[in-house]
Amino acid sequence: MARIGIFGAGWVGLVTGVCFAELGHDVVIRDIVPEKIEALGRGEVPFHERDVPELLERNRRRLSFTLDANDVVGCELLFVCVDTPPTYAGDADLSRVWSVIEELPPLPVRSILVMKSTVPVGTGAKVRAGLDARGLADVGYVSNPEFLSEGRAVEEFMHPDRVVVGAFEDADADPVAALYEPLATPIVRCDVNSAEMIKLAANAFLMTRISFINEIANVCEATGADVVKVAEGVGLDHRLGPHFLRAGIGYGGSCFPKDSLALKQLASNSGYHFQLLSAVIEVNELQKRRVIGKLKRHLGSLAGRKVALLGLAFKPNTDDMREAPSIVLASRLLAEGAEVRGWDPVVAGHPALGGVELVGSVVEAVQGADAAVIVTEWPDLRELAREEVRRAMATPLIVDGRNLLDPALTRAAGFAYEGIGRPMSPTDVLPETTEREFAPELNR
Ligand code: UGA
Repeated sequence: MARIGIFGAGWVGLVTGVCFAELGHDVVIRDIVPEKIEALGRGEVPFHERDVPELLERNRRRLSFTLDANDVVGCELLFVCVDTPPTYAGDADLSRVWSVIEELPPLPVRSILVMKSTVPVGTGAKVRAGLDARGLADVGYVSNPEFLSEGRAVEEFMHPDRVVVGAFEDADADPVAALYEPLATPIVRCDVNSAEMIKLAANAFLMTRISFINEIANVCEATGADVVKVAEGVGLDHRLGPHFLRAGIGYGGSCFPKDSLALKQLASNSGYHFQLLSAVIEVNELQKRRVIGKLKRHLGSLAGRKVALLGLAFKPNTDDMREAPSIVLASRLLAEGAEVRGWDPVVAGHPALGGVELVGSVVEAVQGADAAVIVTEWPDLRELAREEVRRAMATPLIVDGRNLLDPALTRAAGFAYEGIGRPMSPTDVLPETTEREFAPELNR
């Protein structure tokens, strides 16, 4: 079993740490934020992520938390799991990565620095040079990007589709690959640049699929097709596959928006205009705003209208609000003069939701509302089209931003319903809405 040091007790660092501890390794997690380290020492997880609290509890004796970088001395593998937010220019800000390099203590045993943070292609070579310049030529370097998604991170760590290990020297790759052997997964061994690019390309491809299906959804709306059926029919082609074809109000989160900008910027800094990725990003921005058009088409002006935003986190099973479409929606609705109430089972508040009244239940959120918008597909919302909700609403209109509900059942329960890329029904026309406004060709 290895002794593993982890820099960064954020989401990636903590998931990585508790999972390696679960696999039997001794793990030291180092962060610079005292409150975080103290909370983790007490067994408290500072974010909502399934299975992490249980793994933390079960592996307490194999896990330690520290503020002191010297405590990683003796670890053969040092994982870098710090965040790399975008700079104003859209590049990845690597300042936290450089802090780790600067703070590395003298290491008596041969150690390998393993990069899990998402970094631009070429970072490994710069870090290698930085280590050499600090007299740490003996420290190996490996790129080992993470492909975990929030809400399913532990499960995905333990059952990955693949593990990527990029190294300058095979001898450095071997011990890192060995860590993952118990997981019986394909291991892609490659050079450092390619490993860095695999991570960026995988995320860009996933985003491309989302923007693609969202554009197909928009064309479905204009032509009367149903994107859910279209995605099913397309996804059964084994060359295409069914994943990431859920149309909705766009992707958010801590990774996709940031990584798409970073890749676009990386390409452009290298003299290449990545047209497709630019379109993917733009489609996503517009997609978040389409709900406003849908609401206006049903309700006319939104000034003074009461709108319930149901689900605020960028996706279910997380409390992460980074780049959540709910933030853009709330801000646009408030700018239109609407009164906005929000509900989420785990998000209790967020600075970007100023002006939104957050309430503790779905029924409170829809009380007197002119429209309910499903923003995040929390399972509780599957039961939204019920009598209690219909009675509570001033206008029984549901805009389903995640295509969570069955349109026929929702309409049968007395609601006007509009999903994303789903055919309209004459019953969706609220009393004050004219036929003309419902013509499919105007459905934009
Ligand atoms: C994503 C990737 O899925 C991970 O593989 C990657 O490791 C991670 O980014 C990262 O770079 O760290 P995550 O951001 O946690 O993971 O969430 P996803 O489940 O991928 O969802 C991202 C966004 O896409 C969400 O807003 C979700 O609602 C949206 N989405 C996803 C769709 O709109 N449609 C889909 O079909 C799938």
